[in-house]
Amino acid sequence: MTLTVRDLHVAFETRGGRVNALRGVNLSVAPGETLGIVGESGSGKSVTAQAIMGLIDLPGRIEAGSITWNGKSLLEGDGYGTSVWGREISMIFQDPMTSLNPLMTIGAQICEVLTQHLGMTAEQARERAVDLLAAVGISGPRRRVDQYPHEFSGGMRQRAMIAMSIACNPKVLIADEPTTALDVTVQAQILDLLAELQSGLGLAIILITHDLGTVAGLCQRVAVMYSGRIVESQSVDAIFERPQHPYTQGLLRSTPRLDEPATRLLSIEGTPPSLMQADDGCAFRKRCPIAADACKEMPPLVTEGAVQIACHFPGRPAWQARQAG
Ligand SMILES: Nc1ncnc2c1ncn2[C@@H]1O[C@H](COP(=O)(O)OP(=O)(O)OP(=O)(O)O)[C@@H](O)[C@H]1O
Ligand SMILES: [Mg+2]
Repeated sequence: MTLTVRDLHVAFETRGGRVNALRGVNLSVAPGETLGIVGESGSGKSVTAQAIMGLIDLPGRIEAGSITWNGKSLLEGDGYGTSVWGREISMIFQDPMTSLNPLMTIGAQICEVLTQHLGMTAEQARERAVDLLAAVGISGPRRRVDQYPHEFSGGMRQRAMIAMSIACNPKVLIADEPTTALDVTVQAQILDLLAELQSGLGLAIILITHDLGTVAGLCQRVAVMYSGRIVESQSVDAIFERPQHPYTQGLLRSTPRLDEPATRLLSIEGTPPSLMQADDGCAFRKRCPIAADACKEMPPLVTEGAVQIACHFPGRPAWQARQAG
């Protein structure tokens, strides 16, 4: 039960020109594993999730690459994807208010998933909806099931979304910034809930965030995205100890750590290159302190043991040590 993405290219034809959003994404998730995907705004995290869920629509197009589940392609037109999306692989979105229907009760929305995908009767679905609300920590689920989204707080709406996404007992749950719309305490509760579900249901989770701190708490492995590609992937412990890619090293310099004395946070200067220009080199080279001539050529993503890295100079310290302060 492995989800594998290979050399995925996605482009959007916009009025302003062609946006090469994904330029060769490679990743895989094993059963029970929690993979974090981190990267700056616009690096392609959401587009990757949308592609896995079959949600790339015009003006977007998957131009190359493969997405397979259990070795079978989700992209072929034989309907395999349709039988997997929303069931074996499901997704929760950043903002539950735009994903929930304001005109339907929470229960009706969960029941819709259950009757459509699992062929339950209305009565069975309602019972299961109550159980699901309880499972995601909503108290008084029998009363809550008949309420509308506006009667729920932000955190409860996100819980309801999670209930909906696990309704069909998925094997993989993709969570795209599931906590950014919530305040800090509620964020922590939602992340705890995801961790609980992960161990209880044996789910694989792909957690998308731009915050390495969030990843540290929940994930076993992390993939770092930059400009439409994965530039580094390794275990969370290892990435905090030995970040290989200069971009990852830079990200870590700008992430506060609880286990270290307060240090000044340093950001990476510059901005990512435009996704409209075709560029054959390493996308990070203009911001990279150790870039050299070799970097005009795109470094391939190389696997060495448990580490995947796309850099001509992996592991070389790119930035000066953080200053205490
Ligand atoms: N429907 C679309 N039409 C045109 N361009 C798009 C579309 N969707 C995404 N893009 C472009 O694809 C690139 C990657 O976007 P994506 O949403 O995946 O970024 P992200 O990493 O999720 O960023 P964020 O952290 O802000 O959510 C961006 O340059 C974005 O403008
Ligand atoms: Mg996004």
